[in-house]
Amino acid sequence: MDNAIRWPRVKELLDSALERWKAENGRDPRMRGAHDGHIGWETKEELASSSPYEKQLIDPAKVGNGKAEETNLVRILRGPIGGYRRMPSGGPYLSPNEIKEISEWINAGMPD
Ligand code: HEM
Repeated sequence: MDNAIRWPRVKELLDSALERWKAENGRDPRMRGAHDGHIGWETKEELASSSPYEKQLIDPAKVGNGKAEETNLVRILRGPIGGYRRMPSGGPYLSPNEIKEISEWINAGMPD
């Protein structure tokens, strides 16, 4: 388990994605304003229960059982879903390896 992806790494990946978005766009992302319904990741519980546009980011039924690729979080980091653009909107996007880390973390049961 020493190489396992843990929550601080996932938070770092998401935080740095927003930092890159900010650098590219020259302003803070309006996360509250842009997302109908709560979105945030101060804690992993907050991330999991975030549900912008009624799309829960991490459905508990898809945690720890190889179904991470089916979560709305991983899906929208990889491409558009249900009429919504790939996120973060307009990019820069997370790299395939970064998204894979998040996916592996969910498949590992979201360890602290
Ligand atoms: C199911 C999940 C999500 C949905 C349905 C969703 C939907 C949206 C919508 C409708 C907008 C406004 C229109 C647009 O700019 O395209 C938006 C903006 C944005 N979203 Fe998401 N989003 C989701 C998840 C995420 C995640 C996980 C991130 C970060 C990793 C993210 C980052 C952003 C950013 C940076 C913006 C631009 C905000 C601004 O213009 O100030 N979104 N999102």
